[in-house]
Amino acid sequence: MNIAILGAMWGDEGKGHITHHLSKDYDWVIRFNGGANAGHTIYRDGKKYVHNLLPSVDWRNQNTKAYLGAGMVIDLEKLRDEVYTLEKDFPGASKRIYVDKSAFVVLPEHKEEDKKENAHIGSTNRGIGPAYRAKISRRGIRVGDCVNSDLFGYLIQMGNCGVRFVDLLNVRDEMTRGKLLYEGAQGVLLDINHGIYPFVSCSDCTIGGIYSGGFHFAPPKRIYGVAKCYTTKVGEGPFPTEIHGEEGNDLRKRGNEYGATTGRPRRVGWLDLPALNYACKVSGITDLILTKFDILAGMENVPVCNKYEKVPTSPSDFMSAEPEYVKLPGWAKAEKGNKELTDFIRTVQKATGCYVNYISTGTESKDILPWYG
Ligand code: IMO
Ligand code: MG
Repeated sequence: MNIAILGAMWGDEGKGHITHHLSKDYDWVIRFNGGANAGHTIYRDGKKYVHNLLPSVDWRNQNTKAYLGAGMVIDLEKLRDEVYTLEKDFPGASKRIYVDKSAFVVLPEHKEEDKKENAHIGSTNRGIGPAYRAKISRRGIRVGDCVNSDLFGYLIQMGNCGVRFVDLLNVRDEMTRGKLLYEGAQGVLLDINHGIYPFVSCSDCTIGGIYSGGFHFAPPKRIYGVAKCYTTKVGEGPFPTEIHGEEGNDLRKRGNEYGATTGRPRRVGWLDLPALNYACKVSGITDLILTKFDILAGMENVPVCNKYEKVPTSPSDFMSAEPEYVKLPGWAKAEKGNKELTDFIRTVQKATGCYVNYISTGTESKDILPWYG
């Protein structure tokens, strides 16, 4: 069964951690949107890895391949660096990387433009918006067009490591026979269509990105939305449940909430159920995965926003949202069978109409627990 792992909030929900853990049961892990603005963190045997462009494959499993789809915008220098690093850790793994020739490239000037133009959004300055703008205005350069450009050297270097540059049509049959995991980047609230515009990224972060990337021949059956048991956001824009002052600083430290891509301190807040429900409804999420329960363990009460004065039905509703909170009893330890944890999860299920299938209580694979009930 093909599945998708999407960010249900503002990114950094733990998509990489979950994808890495589940990838051993899949033949392909596919990135379909965004670019090096993503920072997907994985801990393997105590060592930290961050992928910006490569899918979060568990490279120890020899059978899983990685695909970078047509909907992405790719900084080829950055990808080359990631491939080189991967080769050091897992020699030969690059032979399992496929890059769609229809993906667009991020040029050095796109990163410069980002810095000049998008500070008010809090962009990651990875050139994402300007690269998509070039694409939409039909001036963009695709990976397959690089043959006669300065960028061709990067393709040669990656090709020497075994990376393949392909047309989706040529791998489609092989994909149809396998099991696919689509790994989203960013999150629903950063989606260009359904996010809190204009404080968004520039790609399709929802299920829509899988279809526009050309993968309709192998759609996901279940769409997992990942969210933390609290909320974080990097960059500008409305954040109704934000925690300010000492309490916020304290949670930021406990959760190690600093950007994997830019190192910026993340804004932190309580779980926002109206926003999560909105995200599930607009992006086709069928199931939820909740992360970072270890971080809130030991609190007497955990505040959760259960409604706004006005039910949010559009991105603009979040601009003026007045959150109302309930205080749910805290859990002493993040583990199966804990009553308070179970009640917290039931509250989320009730608010969203989605079952929680996994929870995570730490950074390693062993900390991801299947959840029933
Ligand atoms: P992952 O995949 C968190 C945010 C930026 C900024 C806005 C626009 O790790 O979840 P952009 O560079 O895309 O033009 O920035 O989106 N942003 C992210 N925040 N996680 C991400 O990716 C993000 N990618 C972009 O901080 O507010
Ligand atoms: Mg991230």
